[in-house]
Amino acid sequence: MQGVTVRSATVADIDGLVASITALFAEDSVRDELRNPGWPQARAAGDEAENMANPDMIVLLAELDGSVIGHLTGGFYAASAMWSGPRAHLISMHVMAAWRGQHVGEQLVEYFRSWAKEKGAVQLRVTAYTANTGAIRFYQRHGFAPLETTLAVSI
Ligand SMILES: CC(C)(COP(=O)(O)OP(=O)(O)OC[C@H]1O[C@@H](n2cnc3c(N)ncnc32)[C@H](O)[C@@H]1OP(=O)(O)O)[C@@H](O)C(=O)NCCC(=O)NCCS
Repeated sequence: MQGVTVRSATVADIDGLVASITALFAEDSVRDELRNPGWPQARAAGDEAENMANPDMIVLLAELDGSVIGHLTGGFYAASAMWSGPRAHLISMHVMAAWRGQHVGEQLVEYFRSWAKEKGAVQLRVTAYTANTGAIRFYQRHGFAPLETTLAVSI
C-alpha cells in the first residue's frame, strides 16, 4: 500500500505496538475463551522491549503517516539435537481492520521472510486458530501449508 513503511520497531514505538497487540488479543479472545484480552496492557510493553534487544527476535511495525497500523513479532530458533534445521516462528501479527486487504500483511511477512533467510532459517512456521479462516487463507497464499493441529477439550 502506498505510503506504508515496514521497519523494525524501537522502544519509542511501544505505545503503537501495544495498541496493535491489544487489538489482536481482542480478536483472539473471541476465538479462544482462555486467551486473556488484558495481557497486552499488562505485559506486552516489557516483553516486546526485551524482544527488541534480542538479536534472535524481530519486532516489525507497519507505519502510515506516523501511526502504527500493524505489527509482526517473530523469532529465530537454531538447529539443535531435537531439530535438524533452523526455523523462524511468526509469533504475532496484526493489521488494523481499516487497512486490511491492501497488502500491508504481505509487506510484513516478506520482511520477516527476508530476515529469517538472512539468519539462516530453512523454514517459517506460524500457528493460527482454526476459526481464523481469513488469516489461514492469507498464510497459504504466502506458501504456508498445514503441518500440525492443536486439539483441545474442556474438562
Ligand atoms: C491476517 C492479516 C494480518 C492479513 O493482513 P492484510 O494486510 O489484510 O493482508 P494482505 O492485504 O497482504 O492480504 C489480504 C488477505 O488477508 C486475508 N484476510 C484476512 N482477514 C481479512 C480482512 N478482514 N480483510 C481483508 N483481507 C483479510 C485474506 O486472505 C486476504 O486475501 P483475500 O483476497 O483472499 O481475501 C489481517 O487480516 C489481520 O490482522 N487479521 C486479524 C489478526 C490475525 O488474524 N492475525 C494473524 C493471527 S495468526
